[in-house]
Amino acid sequence: MRIVLLGAPGAGKGTQAQFIMEKHGIPQISTGDMLRAAIKAGTELGLKAKAVMDAGQLVSDDIIIGLVKERIAQPDCANGFLLDGFPRTIPQAQAMKDAGVAVDFVLEFDVPDEEIVKRMSGRRVHSGSGRTYHVVFNPPKVEGKDDVTGEDLVIRADDEETTVRKRLDVYHQQTAPLIGFYGKEAEAGNTRYVKIDGTQPVDLVSQQLAAILG
Ligand code: AP5
Ligand code: ZN
Repeated sequence: MRIVLLGAPGAGKGTQAQFIMEKHGIPQISTGDMLRAAIKAGTELGLKAKAVMDAGQLVSDDIIIGLVKERIAQPDCANGFLLDGFPRTIPQAQAMKDAGVAVDFVLEFDVPDEEIVKRMSGRRVHSGSGRTYHVVFNPPKVEGKDDVTGEDLVIRADDEETTVRKRLDVYHQQTAPLIGFYGKEAEAGNTRYVKIDGTQPVDLVSQQLAAILG
């Protein structure tokens, strides 16, 4: 099964990706996590990406498309994958289509901007795995610690309010057009498009996704 998670920053893509990945045994491909790993490792890609990400802008399509093509060619993607944070522009979606990568489900998480700004201030992440928590809505078992490794949780560099608002602008300008792109793909019978109310509590969103994905 090949799934695309579409939605604004903070809509809950990473949170739900964890559940889908465990249930369906398909890898989560988060371009954001891949870029943060490159920054941490100090690679050439990381050095290029850091300033762009800290400013809330998008990394260039060429770099991202190359990264994803390489990743989905790995053996663990043979039975499917879950794309989280990709595609994020029409050229990225078109590149996948041109490469013959069909998508079974596009799941759009709908959350209003003001709700997102509130959520981001409480987000905490485990930088090793990308596992995501919220101090109120999805707290870890032990405050400030990852459930699996017990390691410290951190605040993401791009979660400051002004950067979040910039990322929301970028989402509306460059990523929201994908709703139309995939709507047309669904009309043509090439994919299934489902819009989910992402303002519901985490477990209700998970239940709804489980019902859709089977
Ligand atoms: P990326 O890491 O993809 O960030 P994003 O898309 O902005 O999304 P987030 O990770 O912020 O949000 P999410 O939807 O995963 O929400 P989460 O589950 O964490 O990208 C970062 C940057 O990398 C980009 O800005 C760009 O520069 C670059 N980049 C990445 N991909 C790229 C691409 N394809 N092309 C170009 N550049 C790219 O949830 C958020 C918070 O809310 C958490 O605290 C969570 O616990 C909480 N929460 C989740 N669900 C709920 C709920 N139902 N109710 C209450 N709280 C909830
Ligand atoms: Zn995420």
